Amino acid sequence: MRYAHITGWGKYVPQRVVTNDELAQTVETSDGWIRDRTGIAERRIAGPSETTASMAIAAAIGALDVAGASGSQLDLIIVATTTPEHLFPSTACLVQDALGAARAGAFDLSAACSGFVYGLSLGADAIKAGSANTVLVIGSETLSRIVNWKDRNTCVLFGDGAGAVLLQGSDQPGGILSTLLRADGSGGELLIIPAGGSRQPVTPEAIAQNLHTIQMNGREVFRFASRVMDRATREIIYKAGWTTDQVDLFVPHQANLRIIEMAARSLGVPLDKFYCNIARYGNTSAASIPIALTEAAESGLLRPKDRVVMVGFGAGLTWAAAALEWGEPHPASRSQKTLSRLGYGVASVRSRARRLFRRVEDRLFGTLDPTLQPAPAREPARELPGRNGSEPGRRGDGKREPTPASDPKPESVTANGTPSDQSALEEARS
Ligand code: ACO
Repeated sequence: MRYAHITGWGKYVPQRVVTNDELAQTVETSDGWIRDRTGIAERRIAGPSETTASMAIAAAIGALDVAGASGSQLDLIIVATTTPEHLFPSTACLVQDALGAARAGAFDLSAACSGFVYGLSLGADAIKAGSANTVLVIGSETLSRIVNWKDRNTCVLFGDGAGAVLLQGSDQPGGILSTLLRADGSGGELLIIPAGGSRQPVTPEAIAQNLHTIQMNGREVFRFASRVMDRATREIIYKAGWTTDQVDLFVPHQANLRIIEMAARSLGVPLDKFYCNIARYGNTSAASIPIALTEAAESGLLRPKDRVVMVGFGAGLTWAAAALEWGEPHPASRSQKTLSRLGYGVASVRSRARRLFRRVEDRLFGTLDPTLQPAPAREPARELPGRNGSEPGRRGDGKREPTPASDPKPESVTANGTPSDQSALEEARS
Protein backbone atom coordinates (compact mmCIF):
# COMPACT_ATOMS: atom_id res chain seq x y z
CA MET A 1 0.00 0.00 0.00
CA ARG A 2 1.30 3.48 -0.94
CA TYR A 3 0.95 6.51 1.31
CA ALA A 4 1.28 10.18 0.31
CA HIS A 5 3.41 12.15 2.79
CA ILE A 6 3.98 15.89 2.96
CA THR A 7 7.77 16.12 2.84
CA GLY A 8 8.24 19.78 1.95
CA TRP A 9 6.50 23.12 2.41
CA GLY A 10 7.12 26.68 1.37
CA LYS A 11 5.48 30.07 1.09
CA TYR A 12 5.93 33.42 -0.56
CA VAL A 13 4.24 36.67 0.40
CA PRO A 14 4.86 40.05 -1.26
CA GLN A 15 6.95 42.62 0.61
CA ARG A 16 4.34 45.35 0.38
CA VAL A 17 2.17 45.58 3.51
CA VAL A 18 -1.13 47.48 3.29
CA THR A 19 -2.61 48.32 6.68
CA ASN A 20 -6.26 48.95 7.49
CA ASP A 21 -5.45 52.60 8.13
CA GLU A 22 -4.02 52.87 4.62
CA LEU A 23 -7.23 51.42 3.16
CA ALA A 24 -9.29 53.81 5.24
CA GLN A 25 -7.72 56.63 3.24
CA THR A 26 -9.31 55.35 0.02
CA VAL A 27 -12.64 53.77 1.10
CA GLU A 28 -15.09 54.60 3.88
CA THR A 29 -13.92 52.14 6.52
CA SER A 30 -11.80 52.05 9.67
CA ASP A 31 -9.16 49.91 11.31
CA GLY A 32 -11.61 49.25 14.17
CA TRP A 33 -14.40 48.00 11.85
CA ILE A 34 -12.10 45.69 9.87
CA ARG A 35 -10.44 44.21 12.98
CA ASP A 36 -13.78 43.72 14.81
CA ARG A 37 -15.63 42.13 11.87
CA THR A 38 -12.83 40.13 10.28
CA GLY A 39 -9.73 39.94 12.49
CA ILE A 40 -7.62 41.42 9.66
CA ALA A 41 -5.01 44.06 10.54
CA GLU A 42 -3.02 44.13 7.30
CA ARG A 43 -2.51 42.26 4.04
CA ARG A 44 0.28 41.80 1.47
CA ILE A 45 -0.20 43.23 -2.00
CA ALA A 46 1.82 42.13 -5.02
CA GLY A 47 4.13 44.65 -6.65
CA PRO A 48 4.29 45.09 -10.43
CA SER A 49 6.86 42.30 -10.84
CA GLU A 50 5.00 39.80 -8.64
CA THR A 51 2.45 37.54 -10.30
CA THR A 52 0.57 34.33 -9.49
CA ALA A 53 3.24 32.29 -11.32
CA SER A 54 6.25 34.08 -9.84
CA MET A 55 4.90 33.64 -6.30
CA ALA A 56 3.98 30.00 -7.00
CA ILE A 57 7.53 29.31 -8.23
CA ALA A 58 9.08 30.92 -5.14
CA ALA A 59 6.83 28.87 -2.80
CA ALA A 60 7.52 25.71 -4.80
CA ILE A 61 11.30 26.17 -4.58
CA GLY A 62 10.91 26.55 -0.80
CA ALA A 63 8.94 23.27 -0.62
CA LEU A 64 11.48 21.41 -2.79
CA ASP A 65 14.34 22.71 -0.60
CA VAL A 66 12.67 21.51 2.61
CA ALA A 67 12.19 18.06 1.07
CA GLY A 68 15.70 17.96 -0.39
CA ALA A 69 14.14 17.36 -3.80
CA SER A 70 14.53 18.95 -7.21
CA GLY A 71 12.17 19.90 -10.02
CA SER A 72 13.38 17.04 -12.20
CA GLN A 73 11.86 14.54 -9.74
CA LEU A 74 8.33 15.89 -10.14
CA ASP A 75 5.62 13.75 -11.75
CA LEU A 76 2.75 16.19 -11.34
CA ILE A 77 2.26 19.91 -10.60
CA ILE A 78 -1.15 21.20 -9.49
CA VAL A 79 -1.70 24.92 -9.06
CA ALA A 80 -4.92 25.88 -7.29
CA THR A 81 -5.81 29.45 -8.17
CA THR A 82 -8.67 31.79 -9.02
CA THR A 83 -6.24 34.36 -10.40
CA PRO A 84 -4.23 32.41 -12.99
CA GLU A 85 -1.51 34.14 -14.93
CA HIS A 86 -3.63 33.68 -18.11
CA LEU A 87 -6.79 31.77 -19.00
CA PHE A 88 -4.31 29.56 -20.82
CA PRO A 89 -1.58 28.41 -20.74
CA SER A 90 -2.07 27.25 -17.18
CA THR A 91 0.00 28.77 -14.40
CA ALA A 92 1.09 25.20 -13.57
CA CYS A 93 2.81 24.95 -16.98
CA LEU A 94 4.78 28.13 -16.25
CA VAL A 95 5.83 26.63 -12.92
CA GLN A 96 6.79 23.37 -14.68
CA ASP A 97 8.99 25.27 -17.12
CA ALA A 98 10.70 27.34 -14.42
CA LEU A 99 11.47 24.31 -12.25
CA GLY A 100 12.79 22.25 -15.16
CA ALA A 101 10.23 19.57 -14.32
CA ALA A 102 10.70 17.82 -17.66
CA ARG A 103 8.80 14.65 -16.65
CA ALA A 104 5.84 16.33 -14.94
CA GLY A 105 2.24 16.83 -15.98
CA ALA A 106 0.86 20.21 -14.94
CA PHE A 107 -2.59 21.74 -14.62
CA ASP A 108 -4.50 24.49 -12.82
CA LEU A 109 -7.36 23.71 -10.49
CA SER A 110 -10.31 26.05 -10.00
CA ALA A 111 -12.12 25.56 -6.71
CA ALA A 112 -11.57 29.03 -5.21
CA CYS A 113 -10.54 29.00 -1.54
CA SER A 114 -11.06 25.22 -1.33
CA GLY A 115 -8.64 24.74 -4.24
CA PHE A 116 -5.57 23.80 -2.24
CA VAL A 117 -7.34 21.02 -0.33
CA TYR A 118 -8.90 19.80 -3.60
CA GLY A 119 -5.38 19.71 -5.10
CA LEU A 120 -3.95 17.92 -2.08
CA SER A 121 -6.64 15.28 -2.39
CA LEU A 122 -6.00 14.73 -6.13
CA GLY A 123 -2.23 14.66 -5.62
CA ALA A 124 -2.47 12.13 -2.80
CA ASP A 125 -4.85 9.97 -4.83
CA ALA A 126 -2.42 9.97 -7.78
CA ILE A 127 0.33 8.72 -5.46
CA LYS A 128 -1.90 6.10 -3.82
CA ALA A 129 -3.04 4.86 -7.24
CA GLY A 130 0.57 4.57 -8.40
CA SER A 131 0.33 7.04 -11.30
CA ALA A 132 2.71 9.51 -9.62
CA ASN A 133 5.29 9.45 -6.85
CA THR A 134 6.26 13.10 -6.39
CA VAL A 135 3.57 15.77 -6.62
CA LEU A 136 3.79 19.51 -6.06
CA VAL A 137 0.56 21.12 -4.85
CA ILE A 138 0.50 24.92 -4.86
CA GLY A 139 -2.07 27.56 -3.91
CA SER A 140 -1.21 30.96 -5.39
CA GLU A 141 -3.30 34.11 -5.73
CA THR A 142 -2.98 37.72 -6.84
CA LEU A 143 -6.44 38.73 -5.65
CA SER A 144 -5.45 42.40 -5.56
CA ARG A 145 -5.82 42.35 -9.37
CA ILE A 146 -9.46 41.22 -9.32
CA VAL A 147 -10.70 43.29 -6.39
CA ASN A 148 -12.71 46.47 -6.79
CA TRP A 149 -10.63 48.81 -4.66
CA LYS A 150 -13.63 51.13 -4.28
CA ASP A 151 -15.91 48.43 -2.80
CA ARG A 152 -15.43 48.42 0.97
CA ASN A 153 -17.50 45.23 1.26
CA THR A 154 -14.75 43.22 -0.43
CA CYS A 155 -11.49 45.18 -0.80
CA VAL A 156 -10.68 45.05 2.91
CA LEU A 157 -10.81 41.24 2.96
CA PHE A 158 -8.27 40.00 0.44
CA GLY A 159 -4.49 39.72 0.05
CA ASP A 160 -1.87 38.11 -2.20
CA GLY A 161 0.55 35.24 -1.65
CA ALA A 162 1.41 31.61 -2.35
CA GLY A 163 2.01 28.39 -0.45
CA ALA A 164 3.14 24.96 -1.62
CA VAL A 165 3.64 21.43 -0.35
CA LEU A 166 5.52 18.52 -1.82
CA LEU A 167 3.81 15.13 -1.62
CA GLN A 168 5.96 12.02 -1.91
CA GLY A 169 5.00 8.37 -2.02
CA SER A 170 6.15 5.95 0.69
CA ASP A 171 5.29 2.50 2.08
CA GLN A 172 5.46 4.03 5.56
CA PRO A 173 1.90 4.50 6.95
CA GLY A 174 0.87 8.14 7.50
CA GLY A 175 0.57 11.27 5.39
CA ILE A 176 -2.77 12.23 3.84
CA LEU A 177 -5.19 9.81 5.51
CA SER A 178 -8.57 11.04 4.31
CA THR A 179 -10.07 13.85 2.28
CA LEU A 180 -13.53 15.22 1.61
CA LEU A 181 -14.51 17.31 -1.43
CA ARG A 182 -17.93 18.94 -1.73
CA ALA A 183 -19.72 21.51 -3.90
CA ASP A 184 -23.08 23.25 -4.15
CA GLY A 185 -23.31 25.15 -7.44
CA SER A 186 -26.72 26.56 -6.54
CA GLY A 187 -24.85 29.17 -4.48
CA GLY A 188 -22.58 30.22 -7.33
CA GLU A 189 -23.86 33.78 -7.55
CA LEU A 190 -23.09 34.48 -3.88
CA LEU A 191 -19.41 34.89 -4.68
CA ILE A 192 -18.68 35.55 -8.33
CA ILE A 193 -16.73 37.49 -10.95
CA PRO A 194 -19.49 37.83 -13.56
CA ALA A 195 -17.39 39.00 -16.52
CA GLY A 196 -14.23 37.65 -18.07
CA GLY A 197 -15.43 34.18 -18.99
CA SER A 198 -17.15 32.79 -22.07
CA ARG A 199 -20.61 33.78 -20.83
CA GLN A 200 -19.76 37.45 -20.49
CA PRO A 201 -16.43 38.54 -21.94
CA VAL A 202 -14.77 41.64 -20.52
CA THR A 203 -16.11 44.64 -22.44
CA PRO A 204 -15.91 48.36 -21.66
CA GLU A 205 -19.56 48.10 -20.49
CA ALA A 206 -18.70 45.24 -18.10
CA ILE A 207 -15.74 47.19 -16.77
CA ALA A 208 -17.89 50.28 -16.23
CA GLN A 209 -20.13 48.16 -13.97
CA ASN A 210 -17.13 46.48 -12.25
CA LEU A 211 -18.36 43.08 -13.39
CA HIS A 212 -14.74 41.97 -13.88
CA THR A 213 -14.15 42.20 -10.10
CA ILE A 214 -15.24 40.15 -7.09
CA GLN A 215 -18.94 40.47 -6.18
CA MET A 216 -19.90 38.92 -2.88
CA ASN A 217 -22.96 38.52 -0.69
CA GLY A 218 -20.93 38.61 2.52
CA ARG A 219 -23.72 37.68 4.94
CA GLU A 220 -24.79 34.60 2.95
CA VAL A 221 -21.19 33.44 2.47
CA PHE A 222 -20.61 33.92 6.20
CA ARG A 223 -23.64 31.76 7.00
CA PHE A 224 -22.57 29.05 4.54
CA ALA A 225 -18.97 29.09 5.81
CA SER A 226 -19.94 28.78 9.48
CA ARG A 227 -22.17 25.81 8.66
CA VAL A 228 -19.68 23.85 6.52
CA MET A 229 -16.62 24.51 8.69
CA ASP A 230 -18.27 22.68 11.55
CA ARG A 231 -19.85 19.93 9.44
CA ALA A 232 -16.81 19.18 7.26
CA THR A 233 -14.46 19.15 10.25
CA ARG A 234 -16.61 16.63 12.11
CA GLU A 235 -16.97 14.46 9.00
CA ILE A 236 -13.23 14.36 8.21
CA ILE A 237 -12.31 13.55 11.81
CA TYR A 238 -14.84 10.69 11.75
CA LYS A 239 -13.49 9.46 8.37
CA ALA A 240 -9.93 9.43 9.76
CA GLY A 241 -11.11 7.38 12.75
CA TRP A 242 -10.06 10.03 15.26
CA THR A 243 -11.87 12.00 17.95
CA THR A 244 -11.84 15.80 17.99
CA ASP A 245 -9.53 16.00 21.00
CA GLN A 246 -6.96 13.77 19.25
CA VAL A 247 -6.34 16.46 16.62
CA ASP A 248 -3.14 18.40 17.36
CA LEU A 249 -3.67 21.30 14.97
CA PHE A 250 -6.51 22.65 12.84
CA VAL A 251 -5.44 24.66 9.80
CA PRO A 252 -8.58 26.41 8.53
CA HIS A 253 -9.04 28.66 5.52
CA GLN A 254 -8.37 32.20 6.73
CA ALA A 255 -11.42 34.18 5.59
CA ASN A 256 -12.73 35.70 8.81
CA LEU A 257 -11.57 35.22 12.40
CA ARG A 258 -15.20 35.13 13.56
CA ILE A 259 -15.87 32.11 11.31
CA ILE A 260 -12.87 30.29 12.85
CA GLU A 261 -13.97 31.26 16.39
CA MET A 262 -17.50 29.96 15.72
CA ALA A 263 -16.12 26.65 14.40
CA ALA A 264 -13.87 26.27 17.45
CA ARG A 265 -16.80 26.97 19.79
CA SER A 266 -19.20 24.56 18.12
CA LEU A 267 -16.56 21.80 17.99
CA GLY A 268 -15.64 22.40 21.64
CA VAL A 269 -11.97 22.94 20.74
CA PRO A 270 -9.80 25.70 22.29
CA LEU A 271 -9.07 28.46 19.76
CA ASP A 272 -5.31 28.04 20.21
CA LYS A 273 -5.56 24.69 18.42
CA PHE A 274 -6.59 26.62 15.28
CA TYR A 275 -3.70 28.17 13.39
CA CYS A 276 -4.64 31.79 12.63
CA ASN A 277 -2.59 34.28 10.63
CA ILE A 278 -5.49 36.20 9.08
CA ALA A 279 -4.44 39.34 10.98
CA ARG A 280 -1.29 39.58 8.84
CA TYR A 281 -2.42 38.37 5.43
CA GLY A 282 -6.22 38.66 5.12
CA ASN A 283 -7.92 36.13 2.87
CA THR A 284 -5.47 34.80 0.27
CA SER A 285 -8.00 32.28 -1.11
CA ALA A 286 -6.29 29.06 -2.35
CA ALA A 287 -2.99 30.21 -0.84
CA SER A 288 -4.29 30.67 2.70
CA ILE A 289 -4.07 27.05 3.95
CA PRO A 290 -0.59 26.25 2.55
CA ILE A 291 0.76 29.60 3.84
CA ALA A 292 -0.68 28.81 7.30
CA LEU A 293 0.62 25.24 7.20
CA THR A 294 4.11 26.41 6.23
CA GLU A 295 4.17 28.99 9.02
CA ALA A 296 2.98 26.39 11.54
CA ALA A 297 5.77 24.01 10.43
CA GLU A 298 8.42 26.74 10.37
CA SER A 299 7.51 27.91 13.87
CA GLY A 300 7.91 24.37 15.27
CA LEU A 301 4.19 23.90 15.96
CA LEU A 302 4.15 20.64 14.00
CA ARG A 303 6.07 17.56 15.06
CA PRO A 304 6.32 14.20 13.27
CA LYS A 305 3.14 12.11 13.74
CA ASP A 306 1.05 15.15 14.72
CA ARG A 307 -2.56 14.89 13.57
CA VAL A 308 -3.61 17.80 11.39
CA VAL A 309 -7.02 18.76 9.98
CA MET A 310 -7.41 21.32 7.16
CA VAL A 311 -10.76 22.81 6.15
CA GLY A 312 -11.43 25.19 3.29
CA PHE A 313 -14.53 26.80 1.77
CA GLY A 314 -15.18 29.30 -0.94
CA ALA A 315 -16.74 30.26 -4.23
CA GLY A 316 -18.58 27.62 -6.19
CA LEU A 317 -19.78 27.08 -3.59
CA THR A 318 -17.12 24.57 -2.62
CA TRP A 319 -15.74 23.16 0.58
CA ALA A 320 -13.12 20.55 1.37
CA ALA A 321 -11.26 18.98 4.27
CA ALA A 322 -8.26 16.73 4.79
CA ALA A 323 -6.90 14.75 7.74
CA LEU A 324 -3.21 13.95 7.77
CA GLU A 325 -0.39 12.72 9.92
CA TRP A 326 2.60 15.06 9.79
CA GLY A 327 5.84 13.57 8.47
CA GLU A 328 9.56 14.06 8.99
CA PRO A 329 11.26 16.73 6.87
CA HIS A 330 14.43 15.83 4.96
CA PRO A 331 15.90 19.30 4.50
CA ALA A 332 18.27 19.86 1.62
CA SER A 333 21.94 20.38 2.45
CA ARG A 334 23.63 23.58 1.35
CA SER A 335 25.23 21.79 -1.62
CA GLN A 336 21.89 20.21 -2.63
CA LYS A 337 20.32 23.69 -2.59
CA THR A 338 23.16 25.07 -4.72
CA LEU A 339 22.70 22.19 -7.16
CA SER A 340 18.94 22.88 -7.30
CA ARG A 341 19.58 26.57 -8.02
CA LEU A 342 21.91 25.53 -10.84
CA GLY A 343 19.14 23.23 -12.08
CA TYR A 344 16.66 26.15 -12.20
CA GLY A 345 19.28 28.17 -14.11
CA VAL A 346 19.66 25.31 -16.59
CA ALA A 347 15.84 25.12 -16.85
CA SER A 348 15.76 28.80 -17.73
CA VAL A 349 18.42 28.37 -20.43
CA ARG A 350 16.65 25.26 -21.76
CA SER A 351 13.34 27.15 -21.91
CA ARG A 352 14.91 30.02 -23.88
CA ALA A 353 16.68 27.57 -26.17
CA ARG A 354 13.39 25.80 -26.90
CA ARG A 355 11.67 29.08 -27.73
CA LEU A 356 14.55 30.01 -30.02
CA PHE A 357 14.54 26.56 -31.63
CA ARG A 358 10.79 26.87 -32.33
CA ARG A 359 11.35 30.26 -33.99
CA VAL A 360 14.23 28.94 -36.10
CA GLU A 361 12.22 25.83 -37.02
CA ASP A 362 9.31 28.03 -38.02
CA ARG A 363 11.57 30.20 -40.23
CA LEU A 364 13.23 27.19 -41.86
CA PHE A 365 10.34 24.82 -42.32
CA GLY A 366 7.24 26.87 -41.60
CA THR A 367 6.54 27.72 -45.26
CA LEU A 368 8.03 24.69 -47.02
CA ASP A 369 5.09 22.31 -46.76
CA PRO A 370 2.20 23.73 -48.84
CA THR A 371 -0.25 21.21 -47.31
CA LEU A 372 0.16 22.98 -43.96
CA GLN A 373 -0.81 26.39 -45.41
CA PRO A 374 -4.37 27.61 -44.89
CA ALA A 375 -6.46 27.29 -48.09
CA PRO A 376 -6.88 30.63 -49.90
CA ALA A 377 -10.26 32.14 -49.05
CA ARG A 378 -12.66 31.96 -52.03
CA GLU A 379 -15.46 33.94 -50.50
CA PRO A 380 -15.78 35.79 -47.21
CA ALA A 381 -16.61 33.42 -44.35
CA ARG A 382 -20.21 33.66 -43.18
CA GLU A 383 -20.48 35.42 -39.85
CA LEU A 384 -22.39 33.82 -37.03
CA PRO A 385 -25.54 35.66 -35.97
CA GLY A 386 -24.89 38.37 -33.39
CA ARG A 387 -26.01 37.97 -29.82
CA ASN A 388 -29.80 38.20 -29.21
CA GLY A 389 -30.33 36.91 -32.78
CA SER A 390 -29.36 40.30 -34.20
CA GLU A 391 -27.77 40.93 -37.60
CA PRO A 392 -24.29 39.40 -37.95
CA GLY A 393 -21.61 41.68 -36.49
CA ARG A 394 -24.23 43.83 -34.79
CA ARG A 395 -25.42 43.73 -31.21
CA GLY A 396 -29.04 43.63 -30.12
CA ASP A 397 -29.05 47.43 -29.94
CA GLY A 398 -27.99 47.68 -33.60
CA LYS A 399 -24.47 48.96 -32.82
CA ARG A 400 -21.39 47.24 -34.31
CA GLU A 401 -19.75 44.52 -32.19
CA PRO A 402 -16.32 45.78 -31.17
CA THR A 403 -13.53 43.91 -32.94
CA PRO A 404 -10.29 43.12 -31.13
CA ALA A 405 -8.28 45.09 -33.68
CA SER A 406 -10.36 48.27 -33.59
CA ASP A 407 -11.34 48.16 -29.94
CA PRO A 408 -8.98 50.28 -27.84
CA LYS A 409 -7.74 48.38 -24.77
CA PRO A 410 -9.60 49.61 -21.68
CA GLU A 411 -7.21 51.37 -19.33
CA SER A 412 -8.09 49.27 -16.29
CA VAL A 413 -7.08 46.07 -18.04
CA THR A 414 -3.49 47.23 -18.48
CA ALA A 415 -3.31 49.51 -15.47
CA ASN A 416 -1.90 46.81 -13.20
CA GLY A 417 1.40 46.98 -14.99
CA THR A 418 1.61 43.19 -15.07
CA PRO A 419 5.09 42.28 -16.29
CA SER A 420 5.85 39.90 -19.11
CA ASP A 421 5.95 36.21 -18.12
CA GLN A 422 9.64 36.05 -18.67
CA SER A 423 10.73 38.92 -16.40
CA ALA A 424 8.45 37.85 -13.52
CA LEU A 425 9.57 34.26 -13.73
CA GLU A 426 13.25 35.16 -13.91
CA GLU A 427 12.81 37.16 -10.72
CA ALA A 428 11.13 34.25 -8.93
CA ARG A 429 13.93 31.88 -9.91
CA SER A 430 16.64 34.19 -8.62
N1 ACO B 1 -16.09 49.22 6.64
C1 ACO B 1 -17.13 49.74 7.27
N2 ACO B 1 -18.38 49.30 7.11
C2 ACO B 1 -18.59 48.27 6.28
C3 ACO B 1 -17.53 47.65 5.59
C4 ACO B 1 -16.25 48.17 5.78
N3 ACO B 1 -15.16 47.65 5.17
N4 ACO B 1 -18.03 46.65 4.85
C5 ACO B 1 -19.35 46.62 5.06
N5 ACO B 1 -19.69 47.61 5.93
C6 ACO B 1 -21.01 47.96 6.43
C7 ACO B 1 -22.10 47.44 5.55
O1 ACO B 1 -22.34 48.36 4.51
C8 ACO B 1 -23.26 47.34 6.51
O2 ACO B 1 -23.82 48.60 6.65
P1 ACO B 1 -25.44 48.75 6.71
O3 ACO B 1 -25.85 47.95 7.91
O4 ACO B 1 -25.62 50.22 6.85
O5 ACO B 1 -25.90 48.16 5.41
C9 ACO B 1 -22.58 46.99 7.83
O6 ACO B 1 -21.20 47.30 7.68
C10 ACO B 1 -22.72 45.54 8.21
O7 ACO B 1 -22.54 44.76 7.06
P2 ACO B 1 -22.57 43.19 7.12
O8 ACO B 1 -22.40 42.64 5.74
O9 ACO B 1 -23.72 42.71 7.93
O10 ACO B 1 -21.26 42.93 7.97
P3 ACO B 1 -20.78 41.56 8.54
O11 ACO B 1 -20.65 41.62 9.97
O12 ACO B 1 -21.52 40.40 7.93
O13 ACO B 1 -19.29 41.49 7.94
C11 ACO B 1 -18.10 40.49 6.13
C12 ACO B 1 -19.07 41.55 6.54
C13 ACO B 1 -16.80 40.77 6.86
C14 ACO B 1 -17.87 40.56 4.64
C15 ACO B 1 -18.63 39.11 6.54
O14 ACO B 1 -19.94 38.97 6.08
C16 ACO B 1 -17.81 37.99 6.01
O15 ACO B 1 -16.68 37.77 6.42
N6 ACO B 1 -18.40 37.16 5.13
C17 ACO B 1 -17.71 35.99 4.62
C18 ACO B 1 -16.69 36.41 3.62
C19 ACO B 1 -15.96 35.19 3.17
O16 ACO B 1 -15.66 34.30 3.92
N7 ACO B 1 -15.64 35.13 1.93
C20 ACO B 1 -15.00 33.94 1.47
C21 ACO B 1 -14.32 34.28 0.30
S1 ACO B 1 -13.57 32.84 -0.18
C22 ACO B 1 -13.33 32.82 -1.86
O17 ACO B 1 -13.64 31.84 -2.44
C23 ACO B 1 -12.69 33.99 -2.53
